Amino acid sequence: MVRSSACLVTGGAGFIGCALSSHLADRFDHVIALDSLLPQVHPGGERPRRLDHRVELVVGDVADPATWDALLAQFKPEVVLHLAAETGTGQSLTESSRHATANVLGTTTMLDALRRHEAVPKRLVLSSSRAVYGEGAWRTTNGEIFYPGPRPLAMLAAGQWDFVGAEPLPMNAATVEPRPASIYAVTKLAQEQLVTLWADAFGVQAGILRLQNVYGPGQTPANPYTGIMSLFCRLARDKQAIPLYEDGLVRRDFVFIDDVRDALLALVDAETCPTHPLDVGSGGYHTIAEAARTIAAHYGAPEPVVTGQFRHGDVRHAWADADPAADRLGYQALVSLADGVAALAPYVDAELDA
Ligand SMILES: NC(=O)c1ccc[n+]([C@@H]2O[C@H](COP(=O)([O-])OP(=O)(O)OC[C@H]3O[C@@H](n4cnc5c(N)ncnc54)[C@H](O)[C@@H]3O)[C@@H](O)[C@H]2O)c1
Repeated sequence: MVRSSACLVTGGAGFIGCALSSHLADRFDHVIALDSLLPQVHPGGERPRRLDHRVELVVGDVADPATWDALLAQFKPEVVLHLAAETGTGQSLTESSRHATANVLGTTTMLDALRRHEAVPKRLVLSSSRAVYGEGAWRTTNGEIFYPGPRPLAMLAAGQWDFVGAEPLPMNAATVEPRPASIYAVTKLAQEQLVTLWADAFGVQAGILRLQNVYGPGQTPANPYTGIMSLFCRLARDKQAIPLYEDGLVRRDFVFIDDVRDALLALVDAETCPTHPLDVGSGGYHTIAEAARTIAAHYGAPEPVVTGQFRHGDVRHAWADADPAADRLGYQALVSLADGVAALAPYVDAELDA
């Protein structure tokens, strides 16, 4: 269905933005992607091939008011998807201003500009992150729920990876409090709070999705700071044994890009917006070792190797409770890890060959 209206996607030339682009162009008669073409994500600085040709790309920074003035003088979006962000979790500790500028100042600059130009949209969709939970909530064998916080260095140095006598709980915005454990996570939670408050004040429907680890074709293998699945493909393709941090049993919820795209589209299409954040994952978790083995097998690479190395600040386990998004949006992830890897590998091969 084509609506005679306009949609704006910040960060629209990125991995998720490109996956959405043709579907948004089918739904709206004018789609604009505002993107700075960050060199870390777009090393060539060119318009991505995966961005649908019907989408108008405006190259600019979301934290720059003049960019917004030029854009909103001619264009009033009915729906805004706010995807633009600096996304390096580890990197954000040493480049915190860079992350805060793009993610926090970028969000407030956008909100001010929308208001200043009387371009307040009907709906504002934010792609948040499971990072906001940090280490999340755990339950002891007595049933007591607690928030352990980041694992101390001494614990990791002793090779004690899990919290003894307790089990992690799945991430669910309705029951688990956010406890950010990285600067990136702090900026993502700030985005959520800014968008929620602003939307409430101006009668905008705001929808927030907390995405787990998204992977799939379109995620650049050139960025060393994000995209562990693409990185594993890179190593396995070179017939290297993939190194596994800790004991390899770190749990992650790897959700395929098409599933994430469909969750975001369900939020764009929903009759009314859910008033609370929803978690988007694959419906379960895999250990990093399982993911690495699947990729190694695909490439005929040697078995992954547990190194016992660790990175202070890494979250031990993360996966989403998929039920609320299923109830509220009818969203259900459809792509298995094996099928997802089979789709990712040829993309990584083509990118690296090129
Ligand atoms: N990919 C994941 O696993 C994942 C998980 C959780 C949340 N998210 C969130 O989803 C969103 C999109 O992520 P992605 O995976 O597509 O990342 P991406 O890096 O591929 O895309 C982000 C895009 O934003 C652009 N950008 C960065 N700073 C900008 C700025 N100041 N002004 C304008 N454009 C800017 C980049 O050039 C890039 O094209 C982000 O908000 C991210 O926090 C992603």
